[in-house]
Amino acid sequence: MTIYAGTIIDVPGDPFAGDPDAALAADDEGALLVQDGVIRARGSLASVRSAYPDEPVTRLEGGLLLPGFVDTHVHYPQIRAIGGLGLPLLDWLERCALPEEAKLADRAYARAVAREFLDGLIGSGTTSALVFGSHFPGAMEELFSAADRRGLNLTSGLVVSDRILRPDLLDTPEEALAGSSELIGRWHDHGRLRYAVTPRFSLSASDDMLDVCAQLLGKGVWFTSHINENVTEVAQVAGLFPAAQHYLDTYDRHGLVTERSVFAHNVHPDDSELSVLATHGASVSHCATSNCALGSGLFPLRRHIDHGVHVALGSDVGAGVGLFLPKEALQAYFVQQLLGPEGMSLTPVHLLYLATRAGAQALGLDGQTGDFGIGKDFDAVWLRPAGGSPLAVNLAHSVSPSDALARVFALATPADVAGVWIRGTQALAAPGAEPEPASPPAGPPAGSSAEPPAGSSAGSTLAR
Ligand code: GUN
Ligand code: ZN
Repeated sequence: MTIYAGTIIDVPGDPFAGDPDAALAADDEGALLVQDGVIRARGSLASVRSAYPDEPVTRLEGGLLLPGFVDTHVHYPQIRAIGGLGLPLLDWLERCALPEEAKLADRAYARAVAREFLDGLIGSGTTSALVFGSHFPGAMEELFSAADRRGLNLTSGLVVSDRILRPDLLDTPEEALAGSSELIGRWHDHGRLRYAVTPRFSLSASDDMLDVCAQLLGKGVWFTSHINENVTEVAQVAGLFPAAQHYLDTYDRHGLVTERSVFAHNVHPDDSELSVLATHGASVSHCATSNCALGSGLFPLRRHIDHGVHVALGSDVGAGVGLFLPKEALQAYFVQQLLGPEGMSLTPVHLLYLATRAGAQALGLDGQTGDFGIGKDFDAVWLRPAGGSPLAVNLAHSVSPSDALARVFALATPADVAGVWIRGTQALAAPGAEPEPASPPAGPPAGSSAEPPAGSSAGSTLAR
């Protein structure tokens, strides 16, 4: 057993349900007792130490220890395609994202990308993620096996599409069924891995393909896709599904809107879509930097919350501009400020909740991760800024836990990630951070990856 001691902050409550500060738990001389990767006791350092006097203490001096971040929407094949600015969704897909995704047909290329992607997630403090996969089964094997080695909580699946995209990314429904079934058999509920049925969006999936998705979802796996991201996309979907009531209905008609469904974006929903999402207990992944970078729109968070729709955060790399969830949380805050009276003023407690426990709830993992409750896995990120940095200066002048969090959300970057633990195993130790003995099944040491600029090409029929 090990006692981890430091300034410990999490959000065991729901800040959208009442007083946000009441949802916060914070102790600036706190401690967690961890045994076999699981939190067994929590309290002040003095109380945990006196209850367990023989256990070693790892002191995380300075900064904050937070639950590992939970990213509910991030594209593995796009880690090398960040920064394609200035384009709306369909042009960006055609020119930046899809040419890069096509390269994952090469298994060795996919292996390198999987490594960069997972190292990037861990280096950003993310310990659980719903990952939008690749169109190629071999590339999914690479992702699942690399995530398994690192012990990450990862839910992902083969991306399926049978129209509109460039031809090398298309599959027939029969091929999609066979390829997905094989991956489900091998990887769903394998360790901390799970499978998610993943049509790219109904724009690129026929009714026959969505029927196959329903068949696969019947195996007890998860579901994810995109929805209502961009007004041109929404209009094209309406044209392709004339009988559907709205975009969500293109999925709902196939039984794809469930408690195990996570829809990314939903920037332009109508009220009936929000009601259907709430009724079925489906979640929405709010991808704030992506929505801003692609000019998709300002996310109507208040309408989601008022309708009872569960919302968490997604980095949406590579349209999103990085893997660091606090940056998404900050951008979500900015967007609500810009919405004026229609916006929802977010406190630092909301932001931490959105980046941690809300994601765990969306993924059905809140019994395991997302906060530091007893019995939960010790999935944690230690943010400790370099001495004298603006964040260090501001933390030193913070007057309360929520004030300290505000300064973290304003200023923190992945360079401040000094340690990451995944189920009690240290997955990242920054240079200068106090070393923690590694124990199996630790993955290879992680570090952040270089992100070369996106390639570009033209020629598909996607953007009109
Ligand atoms: N819609 C369909 N595919 C994508 C994608 O890769 N990124 C985003 N942001 N939206 C999408
Ligand atoms: Zn996306």
